[in-house]
Amino acid sequence: LVSSPEQRKEEHADVITALPSAWAADGLRKLRRYQGFWLRDIFVPAAINLQQRFEPRPDDVIVASFPKCGTTWLNALTFATMARAVYPPAGADHPLLRLNPHQCLPFLEALFKDGREAELEALPSPRLMNTHMPLPVVPRALPGCRVVYICRDPKDMVVSLWYFFRRLRPDLPFSSVFESTCDGKMSFGPVWGHVLGYWRAAIARPDKVLFLRYEELLRDPAGHVRRLAGFLGMPFSAAEEETGTVNSIVQLCSFGNLKDLEANKIGRLDPLLPIPRDALFRNGASGDWVNHMTPEMASRLDDIVAEKIRGTGFTF
Ligand code: A3P
Repeated sequence: LVSSPEQRKEEHADVITALPSAWAADGLRKLRRYQGFWLRDIFVPAAINLQQRFEPRPDDVIVASFPKCGTTWLNALTFATMARAVYPPAGADHPLLRLNPHQCLPFLEALFKDGREAELEALPSPRLMNTHMPLPVVPRALPGCRVVYICRDPKDMVVSLWYFFRRLRPDLPFSSVFESTCDGKMSFGPVWGHVLGYWRAAIARPDKVLFLRYEELLRDPAGHVRRLAGFLGMPFSAAEEETGTVNSIVQLCSFGNLKDLEANKIGRLDPLLPIPRDALFRNGASGDWVNHMTPEMASRLDDIVAEKIRGTGFTF
């Protein structure tokens, strides 16, 4: 028997209330501990549905990230790279000139939370989608499809998240976000578990997972766009190199360009996150943590993370 989205909602309700709970740093959202990760309670049904119902296609591409680690940028770069035959990146009518990057690809949590996975089924291949879910929540993603993951220095992630949450709660102290990062009790956290899951998968299957770092992307965006295109099986041709396609993609998706577009200045993200869109484009640099943390706080977080990833071979 196939259960309806409504029936599934009821089935999940019991599972959810039995899970350990905590408040997120903003004090506004409830978190539940699900299979070793803290998820907003509204995303637990999405996690269950994703595990049970996500049907990958071999040419699917998933952009995965921990929040505030460069998702918007990687969404834009991957979309622009994959869609370049239809939408030339230097074109005056490129979707990224009129849409926020998050509107260019579906967010898996949002679809699977409401039983709207049919919308994903209806998309033509190759599909491009985005998730913040840790890898164990999308187990069929690998080796079923390709994943592009971005990680970032957790200290910069904390700063970025604090500014982001302050758009909902202007009085939110930095220490709340910092402490919740240290103890891992944050949406999709702990951050080390999230990153390690995808990093291990990238080591095991480099053909299926491309593991990127925000800081390296900043240093050499064009080099990484070439890597991305190669990984996606659509490397730039000599003709494209000649006409500067790579640089057009880099320029189109650059912080300076996206930040000033009307589509990224006006309106809110979505009903799940009623934050103004411009909150996605704050500083766009690495190392801003020095302006927000004492050296003691920085070493405390570094030490916690180092302890959690010790012996894995991974370093931030
Ligand atoms: P800061 O708050 O440090 O500036 P996410 O997209 O995962 O929410 O991450 C947001 C972070 O990425 C923010 O960092 C934001 O400014 C930065 N960002 C957004 N678009 C970017 C772009 N095109 N290039 C570089 N950084 C970008």
